[in-house]
Amino acid sequence: MTLSAKPVISSKLPDIGTTIFTVMSKLALEHHALNLSQGFPNFDVAPELTSLLDKYTRKGFNQYAPMTGVQVLREALSEKTSALYGVNYDPETEITVTSGATEALFAAISAVVSPGDEVIIFDPAYDSYAPAIRLNGGIPVYVTLTPPDYTIDWQEVKGKISDKTRMIIINTPHNPTGTVLSSEDLNQLAALVRDTDIFVLGDEVYEHIIFDGLPHHSLLTHPELKERSFICGSFGKTFHITGWKIGYCLAPKDLSVEFRKVHQYLTFSTFTPAQYALAEYLKTPENYLSIPAFYESKRDQFLSAIAGSRFNFKPSQGSFFQNVSYEALTDENDFDLAVRLTKEIGVASIPVSVFYHQKNDFKILRFCFAKDRETLEKAGEKLSKL
Ligand SMILES: Cc1ncc(COP(=O)(O)O)c(C=O)c1O
Repeated sequence: MTLSAKPVISSKLPDIGTTIFTVMSKLALEHHALNLSQGFPNFDVAPELTSLLDKYTRKGFNQYAPMTGVQVLREALSEKTSALYGVNYDPETEITVTSGATEALFAAISAVVSPGDEVIIFDPAYDSYAPAIRLNGGIPVYVTLTPPDYTIDWQEVKGKISDKTRMIIINTPHNPTGTVLSSEDLNQLAALVRDTDIFVLGDEVYEHIIFDGLPHHSLLTHPELKERSFICGSFGKTFHITGWKIGYCLAPKDLSVEFRKVHQYLTFSTFTPAQYALAEYLKTPENYLSIPAFYESKRDQFLSAIAGSRFNFKPSQGSFFQNVSYEALTDENDFDLAVRLTKEIGVASIPVSVFYHQKNDFKILRFCFAKDRETLEKAGEKLSKL
């Protein structure tokens, strides 16, 4: 046997490179472009929240938090869920605080997916689902959603269910398309998974970023689905603190037991002072009840800024994102156009093909409108000149 000078890693994710978000943000920086690509806000956090973080850091809450999250935050989440939806989760056994929703998604997938299991995901999809499934030996099975409505064909989903299907991942409001599920969608999903061993993973990080008075149809509002669902949320999205990376998972006790086993060895616990700060901040419901109107006005600022452009769009129903079709403008592929717009007119976006595993190009760009008024107006001006 010849010994190599250095061990060589056999990659578990050989096809995965630098994400498009890094690529576009770097390009935006190099060309001094307005960055409407990555989904993060460019405005300040509520001063009350930063003061609370300061308060709890100074008070000495700086050591490991309990594995499941600090009790006051789990209680605050339980109260909020029961006030908003009339549904109860036991803070002791059914709520776990995580390091962002990304960790919660990974832990839920790891808790149930074994090698060879299939997981149904809807393309275009947030980019962490498929790698998390594959790292656990699972097989992503894709259902493709197409513009302009991106509605789910539940008969197609039924056709993709096999005796190996272990999980279905739902994301509402949806990144990148800005669409939301209806209560009828939940009924259809419930009918498909009834009497099966299929779990449901709900990515509901945009729960409070939903517009035009539309209700958020959380999986937890459907009693049958609630019993088999892991529901992931993110304070990063709700309170514009994406860098704090605080998320959580709501799941019935038996599911939470397994979820916590993974979480325990993935991160063990989550940033302590921020958990206390958030628990106190949640005591004022207006802090989250005001979020839909806040982002709806941002969506509307962006839409009126591009109203005179040659882009076609349906107003986003939820999330930080507005998708636009550029078919009337050019037949370039979406990646090339996103790069050209960043370099030539100074506005960065994300080509939606990157969210499809087969890179389907429907001539759509995704713009993030979680930006201050000035940025949105300037971007609109530039885009309208095309
Ligand atoms: C749909 C979706 N799920 C999860 C996340 C990750 O949330 P967190 O930053 O709390 O990990 C994001 C962030 O962009 C997202 O868009």
